[in-house]
Amino acid sequence: MINKERLRIALQKSGRLSGDSFELLARCGIKIRSPKDKLFVHAENFPLDLLLVRDDDIPGLVMDGICDLGIVGTNVLEEAALERARNGQPGEYRPVQELDFGACRLALAVPEDFDYAGAASLNGRRIATSYPNLLRRYLARQGIAARVVALSGSVEIAPRMGIAEAICDLVSTGATLEANQLRAVETVFKSRAQLIGGTAPLAEPKRHAAEILLRRMEGVRAANESKYIMLHAPKAALADIAALIPGAENPTLLPLAGDQEKVAFHAVCAEAVFWETMEKLKALGASSILVLPIEKMML
Ligand code: PRP
Ligand code: ZN
Repeated sequence: MINKERLRIALQKSGRLSGDSFELLARCGIKIRSPKDKLFVHAENFPLDLLLVRDDDIPGLVMDGICDLGIVGTNVLEEAALERARNGQPGEYRPVQELDFGACRLALAVPEDFDYAGAASLNGRRIATSYPNLLRRYLARQGIAARVVALSGSVEIAPRMGIAEAICDLVSTGATLEANQLRAVETVFKSRAQLIGGTAPLAEPKRHAAEILLRRMEGVRAANESKYIMLHAPKAALADIAALIPGAENPTLLPLAGDQEKVAFHAVCAEAVFWETMEKLKALGASSILVLPIEKMML
């Protein structure tokens, strides 16, 4: 079952990061046909196996060398690293790539009727959280003496249950807080998804597979951040038009049939192209302005 020649990546089975993690692999051209309710899934067209687990287990799987790679939120990662340091366990990993999804923050939140006047209001209070290490570090840095109540889930109901006066939990859209009549008052940690690897060097052929996978992931990110822009530009305004397009190096210029005044201008733009930019391009005499998403990119 476990093949030492295949790369092994740990992904969240279900939750905030799982959809984007699977989509990232799909955009890297990796085909996974097996049902997602399995623990262990093989990619069909790439030497990669997926271990589908709870996000909290991902840092440990990578730190212990059971998986070569993992995609996990930096909140979970940092909490695991602090917990391991506390217990004297090895907690080494290599940050491989920041990913452009899973942005959220770990925040302190209090009931809407809590008379909150700055973090000092939490002195002597109980704060429920699934991130006791991150919270303790924050409280120590802020000089707040509060009691940390560690819960493994459903932290948002702790104030109503009388277990704590405040909570420290992840906030993404804010819907969970709102539904529980809580409001975020301080940011403890800003998180996003990250690709991590172990610190031990990979042996061939895994090393080669990892290199290809990482190059594709970088390509997906570059493609996400870029747009392809095409327009018809008056020859006289070419320099001004190029100056409006961020990162458009060496645009391609093509003649337009039956038009001596204008050329077709094609360029990869390093950022989103806003309506304001398109209006300015039009004011410079550009026409037929098209902005297209880029599916894949290799630089
Ligand atoms: C977090 C957190 C809240 C929810 C907040 O759970 O515990 O329940 O997300 O999101 P919202 O602001 O969009 O409502 P998480 O996804 O980490 O699940 P887990 O604790 O089971 O890993
Ligand atoms: Zn979790």
